[in-house]
Amino acid sequence: EPMRELFGLKNIEDQLKDMFNLKEVIVVSGDSDELAWVKKEMGRATVGCINQRIDTNNIVAVTGGSTLAAVAEMMNADSKELNPLFVPARGGLGEEVRNQANTICAKMAEMAKGNYRLLHLPDELSEDAYLTMMEEPKVKEVLNLIRSSSIVIHGIGEAFTMAKRRQSSSEQLETLIESEAVGEAFGYYFNENGEDVYKVRTIGLQLDELKNIPYVLAVAGGSSKAKSIASFLKKGHVNILVTDEGAARELIKGS
Ligand code: G3H
Repeated sequence: EPMRELFGLKNIEDQLKDMFNLKEVIVVSGDSDELAWVKKEMGRATVGCINQRIDTNNIVAVTGGSTLAAVAEMMNADSKELNPLFVPARGGLGEEVRNQANTICAKMAEMAKGNYRLLHLPDELSEDAYLTMMEEPKVKEVLNLIRSSSIVIHGIGEAFTMAKRRQSSSEQLETLIESEAVGEAFGYYFNENGEDVYKVRTIGLQLDELKNIPYVLAVAGGSSKAKSIASFLKKGHVNILVTDEGAARELIKGS
């Protein structure tokens, strides 16, 4: 704590809390765009946050991405007597294996000595496949678990970085350009005002279901992501933010 005071991080956290009406903000020092260990520190801080809030038999839903992978790396067995169950927030096959929600979910369960359930579905589905899969008993079962989560931990991406990483079509990229998308979370894309401008057809947690989940913890950092982070925070779904100094300072500047 004394170090945080020294670098003025406490003050930045309070400012962000007010700006985006959040319950808690943790800012780790440094900028993860420049230094890889900063992402690991965000991971460590996120795990601390989870362990403070998790209760017996809680379900924890997680998204994909390299930031969430860093959270999984830092997970520990502090909560093992609590028997946590980890589930992916949505299907995510298509991304690199180590960045997929399923992989992260299984890793977290292993590290925390909990259990996990997986969703073996592509990130994006055709309408036919979507309707068929939604009727599958196994899919329905996991979807019900996802919707009963006590905590959801998710990343926020820069819109075009995410669209390219997910091999979006040129039409999709065109739509994102026209709608001036800046951020992405849960397969939804947002503009600077926090309006959702595009959505990938995906099975899993939908934006309007977030209001039923007690703790929505966003973890995202790097000065280059500030606009993306702001676009999603403006939606008002998030109540806890873990970020880094690089993003935090830009967020305050941009306000
Ligand atoms: O949805 C957002 C992305 O999963 C964020 O990915 O943590 O690798 O930047 P990242």
